[in-house]
Amino acid sequence: MLRPYLCRIPRRRYIRGAASLLNRFAIEAIALMTKTLAVWLCFALSAAALSAQSTGRYQAPVVSDTGDLKGPRQPIFFRHDIHAGQDQIPCMYCHSTVAVASEPGIPALQTCIGCHQLVGGSTPSHQAEIKKVSDAWRERKPPEWTRIHALPGFVRFPHQRHIKALGTQSCTKCHGDVQRMPQVYQVSTLRMGWCVQCHVNSKPNAVSRDCTVCHY
Ligand code: HEC
Ligand code: HEC
Ligand code: HEC
Ligand code: HEC
Ligand code: HEC
Repeated sequence: MLRPYLCRIPRRRYIRGAASLLNRFAIEAIALMTKTLAVWLCFALSAAALSAQSTGRYQAPVVSDTGDLKGPRQPIFFRHDIHAGQDQIPCMYCHSTVAVASEPGIPALQTCIGCHQLVGGSTPSHQAEIKKVSDAWRERKPPEWTRIHALPGFVRFPHQRHIKALGTQSCTKCHGDVQRMPQVYQVSTLRMGWCVQCHVNSKPNAVSRDCTVCHY
């Protein structure tokens, strides 16, 4: 979507009417430069898309049967394997509070619209799902995502402490390979034994296993 958009930018859009011969010469030169630049940009983007298709970057698969996917069905078929996997958008671009707050946060529609004003989708099924995003934005009705990971209310889990100790790439340790999931599902048990085991084995210092660390 972005590629054809760039290619369609009229080359003289930002150049005002000509005056002197010298001026006209300068205008022609600038026009030629911008045209070359636009052609080069289109070429570079096409080449990037092509090389991604042949070798190199991860290509998310085509999903024809969503009924077979693990995890709860969401109101919009939002794919982590496309956004975080193929397009390599960092987890924290959307879950922006994961390193500073107890809750990672689910992105607001505004975050989606930032891209989807331009990105309309390359296949009919993508277009249909992306239309749900723009409709929701227009009607001011944010999607009601089904929560997947949920600890009971008597357990305290500060995300930020974990990200600080384990690093910003540690999501997979607890959530599995989210960047390869068309639909997110729970990988770890989230049981008490799972938490305590990692705490006890933590290097260089074991984390306290006092009941009050995790229980209010
Ligand atoms: C473009 C935005 C975006 C990016 C990038 C993104 N996410 Fe998400 N994430 C979402 C949205 C929207 C949801 C809620 C819908 C869903 O569950 O699919 C979500 C849900 C989740 C959930 C499930 C939350 C629950 O309900 O328990 C996890 C876990 C998660 N993301 C982890 C990650 C990880 C790890 C990465 C990086 C590899 C990542 N996300 C990248 C937008 C994003
Ligand atoms: C940084 C840019 C960016 C952001 C932010 C972003 N998207 Fe996307 N999205 C893309 C791109 C690129 C594609 C692939 C388009 C294609 O090739 O069809 C895509 C595809 C999609 C699709 C169709 C494929 C699929 O995942 O099923 C949906 C639906 C979608 N996005 C929803 C969302 C939602 C909801 C959000 C916000 C939580 C969001 N997007 C945020 C760039 C973005
Ligand atoms: C040490 C394990 C661990 C790590 C590391 C971890 N998470 Fe989580 N995550 C959890 C647990 C446990 C929950 C459930 C928390 C709850 O219910 O209070 C959760 C919940 C979530 C949710 C849903 C919360 C909500 O508000 O709906 C998202 C999104 C999420 N994690 C994203 C991430 C991202 C992104 C990363 C990496 C930057 C990450 N997590 C790293 C264990 C972890
Ligand atoms: C992959 C390893 C890992 C898992 C799994 C894990 N933790 Fe932790 N947790 C840590 C580490 C490492 C720290 C130490 C962070 C620090 O030093 O600030 C920590 C710290 C904490 C703290 C703060 C401790 C303090 O001294 O205040 C709490 C609370 C906590 N974890 C709760 C949980 C709960 C609840 C779960 C399970 C739902 C869990 N953790 C699962 C590695 C883990
Ligand atoms: C590292 C975090 C952590 C520590 C330390 C911890 N718990 Fe838990 N506990 C949890 C989590 C997470 C759950 C909820 C999941 C589950 O039921 O396994 C839980 C659940 C429980 C439950 C409810 C079990 C049930 O089946 O409903 C009890 C009772 C409990 N813990 C007691 C304790 C006691 C007593 C201690 C101290 C000896 C302790 N916990 C230490 C994380 C912890």
